[in-house]
Amino acid sequence: MAKPREHWGSKAGFILAAAGSAVGLGNIWKYPHMAGQHGGGAFTIVYLICILIVGLPILLAELSIGRRTQLNPVGAFKVLSDNSSWKWVGLLGVASAFTILSFYSVVGGWTLKYTLLALTGAFNDFAVGDSAGKAFNAFVTNPIDPIIWHLVFMGLCVYIINQGVKAGIERWSKVLMPVLLGILLLLVVRGITLEGAGAGLRFLFSPKWSDLDASAVVLALGHSFFTISLGMGTMITYGSYLSRGSDLVQSALWIIFLDTAIALLAGVAIFTAVFALGQNPAEGPGLIFVVLPSLFPQMPGGAIFAVMFFALLFVAALTSAISILEVVTAYFIDEKGWSRSRATYTFGSIIGLIGVLASLSNGSFNVLAPFTELTFMDLLDKASSKYMLPLGGMLTAIFVLVRWGIVRFMDEIKAGAAWFQLHRWAVTTIFTIAGSVVAYIFVRELVALFG
Ligand code: TRP
Repeated sequence: MAKPREHWGSKAGFILAAAGSAVGLGNIWKYPHMAGQHGGGAFTIVYLICILIVGLPILLAELSIGRRTQLNPVGAFKVLSDNSSWKWVGLLGVASAFTILSFYSVVGGWTLKYTLLALTGAFNDFAVGDSAGKAFNAFVTNPIDPIIWHLVFMGLCVYIINQGVKAGIERWSKVLMPVLLGILLLLVVRGITLEGAGAGLRFLFSPKWSDLDASAVVLALGHSFFTISLGMGTMITYGSYLSRGSDLVQSALWIIFLDTAIALLAGVAIFTAVFALGQNPAEGPGLIFVVLPSLFPQMPGGAIFAVMFFALLFVAALTSAISILEVVTAYFIDEKGWSRSRATYTFGSIIGLIGVLASLSNGSFNVLAPFTELTFMDLLDKASSKYMLPLGGMLTAIFVLVRWGIVRFMDEIKAGAAWFQLHRWAVTTIFTIAGSVVAYIFVRELVALFG
């Protein structure tokens, strides 16, 4: 316990690590397929507004709670609330980490498998009919293959997290994030130089308001949350490795800028290709694993771009997954006095096992079968992104408003960002709006669940 807390080596290192957490499957897989199904540009505009009015304040709240206390989410809420039941918000975060990582890692495994398929030229058989869809279905329902890839992916997370904050998370993010940006830019250039790419750009950026219904707005709100890794203490944990002098506002703006830019660029790379090759943009979740693999063989240089695309997806997933595992690890190190390696191996294994059940639920064995039609993997996904994260985010906003206090929050922000002068009532208003908006999503989902 006597060991001093590790800190990030540099500001850029921290920003890249936090952006690495934020940029993930949410940006490259979820955002494009949701925009594709809900009005393209209209969805994008609502999503951008949500990021600013909900994402930014709650991101600042989490980073400042972490930096102030230098602790994991549970310890942080405990310290700032005199050991009251607010610590349950932290525990909810740790529970969300288990829930999210166990399905996220399964999809992470898919990205590895598809990188390999792309490398071996397997997509060449996918150009005709529904062969890509059939192959994807056969893969995810297989009782062994996806589990092996999931465990490899989980093993990589454990390997990185075991190396610690600076030598693990920061070092890997500093390598992987520039790689990710480089690959993405090449894919964007490939996309916009395809003949007929303009239709894809128009689709993504010109709003079709008629396709945007109330449920799409709620989806955009919920997504603005997921994509910046909010609502479960990831940013509290990453903020706890910052020292007091750093400028939180500037860092938060960078994180949000990188996350949003990468989602939009991924949208450009994907929809230019989808439109140029005459495919359906509203394909849904299969857009990435079914439509794209069938498109690559039809475009010039497709074989190499296919490898690049899935490697991109893998890198994005990995830097996010490690941030989720770090929440659990930090909790057991700070609160239970465990060593880093004991915490990573233990919880990497437990989450790995839950992930095995998640993967099996797509095919041979769904533990939920006696109770509902939902697969266990869907349940983990829905429970976390629809209920647990919005609840966590809402409670974080309420915590700043009623327990920690706007004045103390602003003091923490101003340590390192003296230029940031906003009246306390303005900040109170912003937090009230952000909290209410998230409360609205949460209640709406609850009503939908029971109604
Ligand atoms: N933000 C990541 C994405 O867009 C996922 C993620 C990582 C996450 N850590 C999180 C989501 C914590 C919610 C909470 O894919």
